Amino acid sequence: MEITPPGCDGNVMASRIWKRERTMLVDKFDRSFPYLRLSITAICNFSCTYCLPNGYQKTGQEHFLRQDEISRLLDAFIDLGVWKIRLTGGEPTIRKDFTEIARMIGKRDEIKTFAFTTNGYRLKENAKVWRDAGLNNVNISIDSLNAKKFHEITGHNRMKEIREGIEEAIKVGFENVKINVVLLKGVNDGELDQYLDYVKGTPVSVRYIELMQTGDNLTYFNKYHRSADHIKDQLLKRGWVENIRTPGAGPAVNFTHSDYSGSIGIIAPYSKDFCTGCNRLRITSSGDLRLCLFGNVGIPLRHLLQNDDQKETLKKVISKQLDYKASSHFLAAGDTGIMTNLSSTGG
Ligand code: 5AD
Ligand code: SF4
Repeated sequence: MEITPPGCDGNVMASRIWKRERTMLVDKFDRSFPYLRLSITAICNFSCTYCLPNGYQKTGQEHFLRQDEISRLLDAFIDLGVWKIRLTGGEPTIRKDFTEIARMIGKRDEIKTFAFTTNGYRLKENAKVWRDAGLNNVNISIDSLNAKKFHEITGHNRMKEIREGIEEAIKVGFENVKINVVLLKGVNDGELDQYLDYVKGTPVSVRYIELMQTGDNLTYFNKYHRSADHIKDQLLKRGWVENIRTPGAGPAVNFTHSDYSGSIGIIAPYSKDFCTGCNRLRITSSGDLRLCLFGNVGIPLRHLLQNDDQKETLKKVISKQLDYKASSHFLAAGDTGIMTNLSSTGG
């Protein structure tokens, strides 16, 4: 599939950029992949109970992708039609060169949506710099609006400053500000009213994410997993409307209400058809391509990121791998693939 240049206006520079051969990655189920989630570190300074309950433990393998490698990766994926990038981790902003990486990617005209996922610990003082670098979407985790519970879940008593960071992100013009809430039975599943109060006057999208089983967390999963059906039922009862899903939209089902500035979304990885609209590929912090969060293979790409001449080989390897992308994950059967937790792959 060829991509047409957006708003081609005869500008020589612009048309030169778009003359580069760009094809879209498509798999055998006719899904296309304009969205790349790029983990730039496995390290995180928080210790969320569902992800890194004992905090990040050093492995001696902390040689994460360098800027030149990220740049080559980007070149190849842009040629392959990617226009949305998300920086994840671990905690991506823990990298000292996070702002430089953001600037490098932000310069690329081909990237229309440039997002990152963060625990928000540096957001308040950096929101403006990061927006100026070109980032335009941000997802922040707030698993409870109760400060004490937030502390218990994350290991950090920082809810107030993180909420101030969110205010700042809105103020400096982030186009989409999303709040991730991992739904935990008996912990935060009774907090819908607090989140509704929050989105009443704040233009953010709160997204409930059903807890996923990983290689590390089976006991935790069995204790705390709860389907988000009750959230959906309560929203509908209170007059919230389920939005029609647009093609290319992510996996969230979104609900809106005319009396509220923000919205509520539900991400239910165990629901039927969750994978039908899959539009993303992932790169781990050590440079492996993951076709699925829960897949059984990581395809090493790092050796193909060492010099500019390798670009065509890299593109071929990536395209070929798409033939192996499965139709769906096998989570319902308890198969979590090779993922131990989400800190090196990104959520
Ligand atoms: N289940 C669901 N979501 C998870 N995340 C991390 N681990 C899990 C899990 N086991 C998500 C959280 C966090 C993001 C970085 O990854 O939403 O906000
Ligand atoms: Fe796609 Fe895998 Fe996520 Fe399903 S679980 S939506 S196949 S990445």
